[in-house]
Amino acid sequence: MMKNNIMIKNAAELVTCSGFKAKQGKDMSELHIIEDGAVVIEEGIIKAVGKTEEILEKYDERDFQVIDASNKAVLPGFVDSHTHFVFGGYRAEEFSWRLRGDSYMEIMQKGGGIVNTVKATREASFEELMSTGLKRLDSMLSFGVTTVEGKSGYGLDLETEIKQLKVMDELDKIHPLDIVKTFMGAHATPVEFKGKTDDYVEFIIENVMPEIAEQKLAEFSDVFCEKNVFSIEQTRRIQEKAKELGFKIKLHADEIVQFGGAELAAQLGAVSADHLLQVSEKGIKDMANSGVVATLLPCTAFSLKESFAPGRKMIDNGCAVALATDFNPGSCFCESIPLVIALATLQMNIKTEEAITAFTINAAAALDRANEIGSIDPGKKGDILILEFPSYKFIPYHIGVSTVEKVIKNGTIVFDKNLGGKLC
Ligand code: NIG
Ligand code: FE
Repeated sequence: MMKNNIMIKNAAELVTCSGFKAKQGKDMSELHIIEDGAVVIEEGIIKAVGKTEEILEKYDERDFQVIDASNKAVLPGFVDSHTHFVFGGYRAEEFSWRLRGDSYMEIMQKGGGIVNTVKATREASFEELMSTGLKRLDSMLSFGVTTVEGKSGYGLDLETEIKQLKVMDELDKIHPLDIVKTFMGAHATPVEFKGKTDDYVEFIIENVMPEIAEQKLAEFSDVFCEKNVFSIEQTRRIQEKAKELGFKIKLHADEIVQFGGAELAAQLGAVSADHLLQVSEKGIKDMANSGVVATLLPCTAFSLKESFAPGRKMIDNGCAVALATDFNPGSCFCESIPLVIALATLQMNIKTEEAITAFTINAAAALDRANEIGSIDPGKKGDILILEFPSYKFIPYHIGVSTVEKVIKNGTIVFDKNLGGKLC
């Protein structure tokens, strides 16, 4: 019996989220549930999915480590497709100013915000970033995350951007979660370029991005495209260069003001456009038509006391919507998947089924990985969650609290609440 040959049987609900590409609009409501379901995983890959009876006819359970999922729901591992989880220092003080009434942009314009974290991240040693990063990944795992995206963008110089990305490489090797890396040198203008954002754009295009590409340190390129941060034209320049260098494209788009970010994402052929609180009607149509995944981050809107992105409208207009945490030290210091789902369902009028699709197959598509993760289909990675409860409907209902009992990653049980949490 090989360790990662697993059979899950008798699942009250096997929520497969079956599919190999992003689900747009109405298709987001279909979870492809098998009652009394079973899954076979061999050597880390899903081999068979079906009713328990059918699976037991074809496979001998003595060949497997068997998990009896009676009275439990089984789902694909969650994919958190937008985070900034490697950083030095914290910004609790700024959070208290925001509670007092200062806005995120006011704090940024006063020299706080992202550049504060840049200072602390430049000063942090590789080991410090590793040790805080590791703890954060452990916490994500406890919420059922099996793949996480992480961005650079707290270095804003060549050395520190590389340090952040290499920390993610090392964490990927030692932690069960898979990490997808994004270069985000255009996150803010660093103090040494204050007032000279065009020069900074030139600097990253000429001196930073080619090196990141050469060393293959990131798969995606992202830009904070926002009024008083990086303009549409600056963003376009950076992302055209990124495409030339072989990066796939993401954008922080239309977060604080309506800016044309979603439209630009569609023009650039971006894989995803993220935030979208202020997206225009045309931006919604452009994303739906071009298949850009609209990634919504409701915990950030909540934390910033902003109104939520029009998620219902995006789904009704045929967009593929993903949800993510945006975990970062400033606008959203929160990695709770269930809290994001609670906000999406209770505040944004997104259906529970749509929210599950948004955190599984659509989030996988936001990382260009819908063919390998995000659903329980034969051929995909054995990344699977067993809940403590018999239905996925408990996920928004148990507000903000994890309902995940076991996490299987690449066919190995890596987390079990009954055995104290993380197992390796
Ligand atoms: O996605 N909006 C820009 N960037 C991050 C926040 C980063 C920070 O404040 O440190 C975000 O919200
Ligand atoms: Fe972000």
